[in-house]
Amino acid sequence: MRTTTHGGSRVAWRRALKQPLLNVVARLPDGVQRAMFAPRIRRICIRVPLLRAVYSGCLRRHPIDLQYGTDTSGLVDAEALQRDASLASQLRPYMGSQPTIIRRALDTLGDIAGYTFIDIGCGKGRPLIVASEYPFALALGYDISAELVKVANANGAVLARRFPQRPPIRAVTANVADLAVPSGKVVVFMFNPFGPELMATLLAKLEEGLAGGTLDHLFVVYDNPVCGEVFDGSGYLQRWFARMLAYDHRELGFGPEDQEGVVIWQSVRNARPDAFADRERPITSRDRLSAVIE
Ligand SMILES: C[S@@+](CC[C@H](N)C(=O)[O-])C[C@H]1O[C@@H](n2cnc3c(N)ncnc32)[C@H](O)[C@@H]1O
Repeated sequence: MRTTTHGGSRVAWRRALKQPLLNVVARLPDGVQRAMFAPRIRRICIRVPLLRAVYSGCLRRHPIDLQYGTDTSGLVDAEALQRDASLASQLRPYMGSQPTIIRRALDTLGDIAGYTFIDIGCGKGRPLIVASEYPFALALGYDISAELVKVANANGAVLARRFPQRPPIRAVTANVADLAVPSGKVVVFMFNPFGPELMATLLAKLEEGLAGGTLDHLFVVYDNPVCGEVFDGSGYLQRWFARMLAYDHRELGFGPEDQEGVVIWQSVRNARPDAFADRERPITSRDRLSAVIE
């Protein structure tokens, strides 16, 4: 009993200290941050519970934001994203995915001209920015947090001003449970947005579109596929790709890992010929925040 109380107060202290600590480190000059995040130091510090959030690297201004003048960096806890406690327990915190991993995943797909890119749980819109580098018809994002959606649309406006010829970026505030069934040719992207119940709800919508014929062809690109077994269980989908992808060296220290698992499914309807022999590799979820491809 006493252990639980001490454990509980330790967790409460850690929580109370986390945000002020993140704010302090975020304000440190670039040179100091670079020294703090040297790979050898980071590898040790990320194991210290109090420093884990700092060494996730999410608070640092990501290279893609320096490149484009956008704001996709930061870490936002689930409780801050959603006040409804029952929903918050399903959500994963906001942290941006790594652009080079998204690009390498999209590069496997072949011709996606005219497809709609949909990021489910788009946050501040980093994957939408990356998708706008490809010939999609539209880069569309949904997120349950109106604040993050506002930032994603502001980022979209920055991109539209600088690159008017690129596909438009639109973000919409919505809970995935309330989304309409998508239609046409679609690439759904996700970076570990929520747990298995909501994932099953999303899959049911996609299956409805495939069964009814409104979805012509579908790719589901799942970065860090913690609930990947939900898609493996669908008779409407088949595996396209499954690998661990390493962070580009310029992105090391800007996310919690050095590599991430990516699994891609495509619809059986209008399926493309298989291109990756190792696509059936199993997924092992270590916890609710990370999965590896064996
Ligand atoms: C790990 S972040 C990923 C952000 C972005 N996709 C990226 O890769 O940079 C997960 C996002 O999913 C959103 N999310 C969680 N549950 C959701 C739900 N039920 N409906 C819509 N968005 C949700 C969160 O608000 C959060 O911004």
